[in-house]
Amino acid sequence: MPASKLYLAVIGVGGVGAAFLSQLAHLPASLRPTLIFVSRSSKQLYTPSYDAVSASDLNSSTSKLLSIPDLTSYLSSAPGKAILVDNTSNQDVANAYPSFLRKGISVVTPNKKAFSSNLQLWTDIFDAVESSDGQALIYHESSVGAGLPVISTLKDLVATGDQVTRIEGVFSGTMSFLFNSFAPADGSGKGKWSEIVAQAKEAGYTEPDPRDDLNGMDVARKLTILARLAGLKVQGPESFPVQSLIPKELESAKSSDEFMQRLPEFDGEMEAYKDEAAKAGKVVRYVGSVDVGAGKVKVGLETVDQGTPIASLRGSDNLICFYTKRYGANPLVIQGAGAGGEVTAMGVTADLIKAVERLR
Ligand SMILES: NC(=O)c1ccc[n+]([C@@H]2O[C@H](COP(=O)([O-])OP(=O)(O)OC[C@H]3O[C@@H](n4cnc5c(N)ncnc54)[C@H](OP(=O)(O)O)[C@@H]3O)[C@@H](O)[C@H]2O)c1
Ligand SMILES: *[C@@H]1O[C@H](CO)[C@@H](O)[C@H](O)[C@H]1NC(C)=O
Ligand SMILES: *[C@@H]1O[C@H](CO)[C@@H](O)[C@H](O)[C@H]1NC(C)=O
Repeated sequence: MPASKLYLAVIGVGGVGAAFLSQLAHLPASLRPTLIFVSRSSKQLYTPSYDAVSASDLNSSTSKLLSIPDLTSYLSSAPGKAILVDNTSNQDVANAYPSFLRKGISVVTPNKKAFSSNLQLWTDIFDAVESSDGQALIYHESSVGAGLPVISTLKDLVATGDQVTRIEGVFSGTMSFLFNSFAPADGSGKGKWSEIVAQAKEAGYTEPDPRDDLNGMDVARKLTILARLAGLKVQGPESFPVQSLIPKELESAKSSDEFMQRLPEFDGEMEAYKDEAAKAGKVVRYVGSVDVGAGKVKVGLETVDQGTPIASLRGSDNLICFYTKRYGANPLVIQGAGAGGEVTAMGVTADLIKAVERLR
């Protein structure tokens, strides 16, 4: 079957979406499904007759808005198999994955919500894939480490019978940048903690409200996904210890401006932590780990030896170490940019290619 008989729907055209659409345009025709639906939060573009649409016409579209159930029927009635790319971070769209999959619609997504919320949603998604007999696929490489091959590597390790004993690393580009600047391995440092956070916010490396990075939940969601793939029945990102870097006193700050204004009051604590680590020849990093044998997941500050891969990270790179029976004492290590529209879209587009190859 030529790829043109596969149909593509794209929800979300933000930072990742735009990059994805441009990568899509560069795929050879044999791998490029026909785009029949594009949407953003307030607009949708599609035709009742499943004609190809152009994403650049989305803003001027007058198409009537389809609800998620309407979209499900629209896609399941297409004259060929449909693939949905969910480029949002929307929980409602994520909650609908099982119903899309049960109707034979494959899903490709960087959205972490579906895989890191309650365990029932996870179970429903993979049960739907299982019972579709290869007709409905799910790929979510970019939900951890953006385009880095983290999910596919872990799945391959597990599927081939290796025993993953521990997963450890730096899973947030923002946290990586903050600590690589605050406590570089060479012992220098580019300023006080609050100054580093302010610079990162200014440069657009944090969420608009930096508390959304500093609370650790983004990392906790990623660890939930990896722990589940490694076989642990983790209930959700609230079910294990996650150290928030938001001082208790500032949790109730009314705005991100108020938070940023008062953050310098707490520089002493971070400075003391950094100095204490330095005395022991170590540096502070924000680390996530899964101890598969003990069934334990945790996320928070750790002091790591200088000279180790985690201590030597630069910029906003992620680093993920898989310790397994086959790899022995030296882990399988994946390192590189873990955020950014282009690299995230690369993971999404590569997943789309895999789906097309299996479906056509
Ligand atoms: N950027 C990265 O570095 C990165 C890395 C890894 C994973 N991710 C994940 O990739 C996903 C997209 O990230 P992004 O940076 O592209 O986000 P973004 O720039 O905020 O874009 C989100 C897009 O989704 C649309 N949207 C939101 N709710 C919707 C709804 N209910 N129905 C239809 N459209 C909806 C938005 O519409 P409007 O255009 O109308 O606002 C926007 O086009 C997220 O799940 C994120 O966690 C991103
Ligand atoms: C989906 O989101 C990713 C990451 O946000 C983006 O790179 C990609 O272009 C988006 N895809 C579409 C079809 O909007
Ligand atoms: C569509 O509208 C959004 C917001 O209104 C704007 O940011 C974007 O540039 C527009 N896209 C095109 C292709 O005109």
